[in-house]
Amino acid sequence: MKVCIVGTGYVGLVTGAGLAARGHDVVCVDLDDERVDLINSGGCPIHEEGLVELLDSVVGSTLTATTNLAQSVQDADCTMICVGTPFDEDSIDLGQIRAAAASIGAALRGRSSYHTVVVKSTVVPGTTEEVVGPIVEQASGRTIGESLGLGMNPEFLAEGVAVSDFMNPDRVVAGGIDERSQDQIAGLYRGFGDVPIVRTTPRTAELIKYTSNALLSTLISFSNEIANLASSIGVDAVEVMDAVHLDRRLSPVLADGRRVTPGVLAFLRGGCGFGGSCFGKDVRALISFGTEHGHAMPMLSSTIHINERQPVRMIELLRRRIPDLDGLDVTVLGLAFKPGTDDVRESPALTIAAMLVDEGANVTVYDPIAHTQARRVLGDRVSYAPDVESATEKAAAILLVTSWPEFRDLPELIAERSPQPVVIDGRRMLPRTSVSEYEGIGI
Ligand code: UGA
Repeated sequence: MKVCIVGTGYVGLVTGAGLAARGHDVVCVDLDDERVDLINSGGCPIHEEGLVELLDSVVGSTLTATTNLAQSVQDADCTMICVGTPFDEDSIDLGQIRAAAASIGAALRGRSSYHTVVVKSTVVPGTTEEVVGPIVEQASGRTIGESLGLGMNPEFLAEGVAVSDFMNPDRVVAGGIDERSQDQIAGLYRGFGDVPIVRTTPRTAELIKYTSNALLSTLISFSNEIANLASSIGVDAVEVMDAVHLDRRLSPVLADGRRVTPGVLAFLRGGCGFGGSCFGKDVRALISFGTEHGHAMPMLSSTIHINERQPVRMIELLRRRIPDLDGLDVTVLGLAFKPGTDDVRESPALTIAAMLVDEGANVTVYDPIAHTQARRVLGDRVSYAPDVESATEKAAAILLVTSWPEFRDLPELIAERSPQPVVIDGRRMLPRTSVSEYEGIGI
């Protein structure tokens, strides 16, 4: 199929490269000509595992980039909208979606061949049919359902593993206004093996996306609520959750006796909170959307509320050992919202570091790859150490915030130190007895 992708952010570019690798003819459109030139010359504007190699295999053959939206839309059978939908504390900002829909519609004016417009960006239920559809119809002078198709095909790409998530999808949600639109979306994924295709309406597809992220976020906050209770009654939440995980409905036992450990269990563990560009934004957008529709969404409001409190728990744990933080040398290990990325958006680490600075602590931070991003937020209020050794050498307290594997070596690194620094484990990644002054979320 000939596919035009509007927007070359991480969703657009991974989608474009993935579809091109599966044999579609893809044109990626972006307003930024430097970005377009970079892609065409074999470069990659974002850091995503495996993307450089994937682009390398398709650029110049089945994938090209351009700033010429009109021509690309006219040459394609299907256009996918992959632009940003930031949340502005009240509702999602549809500015980029509207602009893309208007340009796509204008490009389709006067054409007669069948074309499907597909929204891939995360948008609240109703947006595809009530906002995108009418704009495309008005700008094109054509009627959706006749020579135009319209659909919603949410993305389920986690940062750091987006390429692998795209190439091996759990499911494809083909939300179309009619059968033909659904067929077009399903057709895009014909080369992806035996993947379940969920044929549904755009509105359902939109809610599936939000529900997926809301569920995972809620599991994390649920686990944190239990972890906080456990710690206040002298129980270890890790012990509790490990036993809960053994429920066969959570970790089924196969006929040969082997136990399956589903990925979802990783979300059923206490910690210092979730971050990233999706969970917080999507849950807040869903709460706001629900409220507008007369549903207060109390559970999701608690998900956010608990998450916002978790960084504070880290400071409270530190205060259990050292009540006065003024002038204290404190190290924060990890700045990215999760390991494997340099993304610090909504990272609990930044909140924790900023709170420590406000308390008068001398804060040193270390992350294997996220210093540049973190510096944009924290500036010179903290010191950036080049490695874990120098980050921790004079620390009176060390807060472990992102579970980078290299932090597992911390106990050996500080074994000879006297007095021993307090270690606050926000991810419960170290054995409790591996350091002498240990505190952790959920203990
Ligand atoms: C998330 C979803 O996982 C993707 O399916 C979805 O497509 C994406 O949002 C999106 O809406 O675009 P992402 O935000 O990149 O992806 O990162 P995750 O790996 O899901 O991590 C989110 C938060 O959950 C992090 O704070 C992380 O620490 C936490 N997490 C992640 C866990 O607690 N356990 C895990 O096993 C993985």
